[in-house]
Amino acid sequence: MPATPVLSQLPSYEVIKTIAQSLKAVSVVRMLEQEPNRAAEFTLTAAGLQLDYSKHLLDVQARQALLQLAEEAKLPAAIAGLLAGEELNNTEQRPALHTLLRASSGGSLGSKFDEVVAARASMRQWADQLNAGELRGFSGSVITDVVNIGIGGSDLGPRLVTEALRPFHGSVACHYVANVDPADLQNTLLNLQAETTLFILCSKSFRTEETLTNSLVAREWMKQSGATDADLNKHFVAITSNLQAAADFGIPEKNCLPLWDWVGGRYSVWSAIGLSCAIAIGWENFELFLAGAAAMDEHFQSAPLAENMPVMMSLLEVWYVNFFGANNHVVLPYDHSLQKLPDFLQQLTMESNGKRVNKSGVLLDYHTGPVLWGSAGTMGQHSFHQLLHQGTQQCPADFILPLTTHTGMTEQHRRLVANCIAQSRTMTVGRSIDEAKSSLLERGMDEASAGELAPHLSMPGNRPNSVITMASLAPQTLGALLALYEHRTFCSAVLWGINPFDQWGVELGKEIGVQVLGLMAGESSSGSMDTATERLIGEWLAEQ
Ligand code: F6P
Repeated sequence: MPATPVLSQLPSYEVIKTIAQSLKAVSVVRMLEQEPNRAAEFTLTAAGLQLDYSKHLLDVQARQALLQLAEEAKLPAAIAGLLAGEELNNTEQRPALHTLLRASSGGSLGSKFDEVVAARASMRQWADQLNAGELRGFSGSVITDVVNIGIGGSDLGPRLVTEALRPFHGSVACHYVANVDPADLQNTLLNLQAETTLFILCSKSFRTEETLTNSLVAREWMKQSGATDADLNKHFVAITSNLQAAADFGIPEKNCLPLWDWVGGRYSVWSAIGLSCAIAIGWENFELFLAGAAAMDEHFQSAPLAENMPVMMSLLEVWYVNFFGANNHVVLPYDHSLQKLPDFLQQLTMESNGKRVNKSGVLLDYHTGPVLWGSAGTMGQHSFHQLLHQGTQQCPADFILPLTTHTGMTEQHRRLVANCIAQSRTMTVGRSIDEAKSSLLERGMDEASAGELAPHLSMPGNRPNSVITMASLAPQTLGALLALYEHRTFCSAVLWGINPFDQWGVELGKEIGVQVLGLMAGESSSGSMDTATERLIGEWLAEQ
């Protein structure tokens, strides 16, 4: 493996540190005043999305230095390698070919692409038949509901797409169960009839505790509701790369759709893992969703670094994490149907880039992926925006704003848009103590009281934020948006020198979970557990 570039040792690193230092005191408002074209010049367009990054603590010199850093980290070669199917996931010796899942041709990856095409045909068949009311359950009634049982990447992507594209839904209702907490499955089944329900068991590994536990309960529910063993084939489908485990579970081959080791769980919504959302929105719309992502892939591949939207968003991420000490990133979709976007992006970015050694296993001396969080619409304004505006933590923000609504309620939507634009501006302009005091005096407050209160009303401004707009939230734009964040995540990983495609950090907890379960069933710990864990298990046992 070629030596991994180390961010802190790249030639531009120290230069950028100095530039960042000088920009800490800069006023974004002043830059916007002094550079009349700044808003236009710091805006990029790709695949139906616009990124306005003019309200960042960034000038032309800083941008140029960051682009130079990307060159030094060999980002262009890494992008080409990703798209060509190089074995970039070095700890698991495999490529990360999620882009092939939405491609319209396979190029040099012909044989893999043939498998993708065959899987798409199978997905289409299931989606079309269900939406045409052609699939019937054990009693002969038409299947009306689909329950996706999966977790992590086998849940978050399809769930997000299904929720986000509600205006495009067909006749089948899709539900999602992920948590091993029995309440999740129980609450979902409450409103369903077994005879009209199809379960999609979604698990790349088919070894995941939550998914297998919920699947077994779902099968039992089906049987208790009158289905015979032979009937189960009408009610269970599996999406997995572990066809043997699915067969052992009792899913016949004709009900299995494939996945491959070169698709990471959090990058898999474009594959058969997305079957539930393809059913929800119908096949044609799912194809548009793929096409939107493919358009972003094309942009990512061909746009120069300076005009490349995922690259620029990644450079901004590295800029704030490594040169301004930011430890988090907030995503604020101003569209109620994107409520699940922060959840999806948490897995995408934090499972990918929550790493502390580089690709060669060397402990890093700089920070990597920040905490990602957020919430949709104006609700956050009455909650955590206080901290965005006046807190001591820096929270670089992405506002995401579809410019039209599917609801037909344009007057109400106008208010939502106004709130988004206002919040972005408020973060930027803030309010000085003098301005605060003047406004208090104007409202009739006496001099002394106004002077005392003004510091509490003042806001520093200069809080960096991007605004990503799109004409409307539609299958294509949603596909482009998710692909944008995928590529941003990849670029940041390249700059940090880490592998974004493994997730070893989640494994130890699973192993310890099995040990704890054994102790809860009465096995002896023989001193293998710490006393705090033993005490907690004892507390649980005492309640049983
Ligand atoms: O535990 C983490 C993880 O492996 C994720 O990466 C993955 O998306 C999720 O679990 C579900 O895995 P599977 O699809 O194999 O059930």
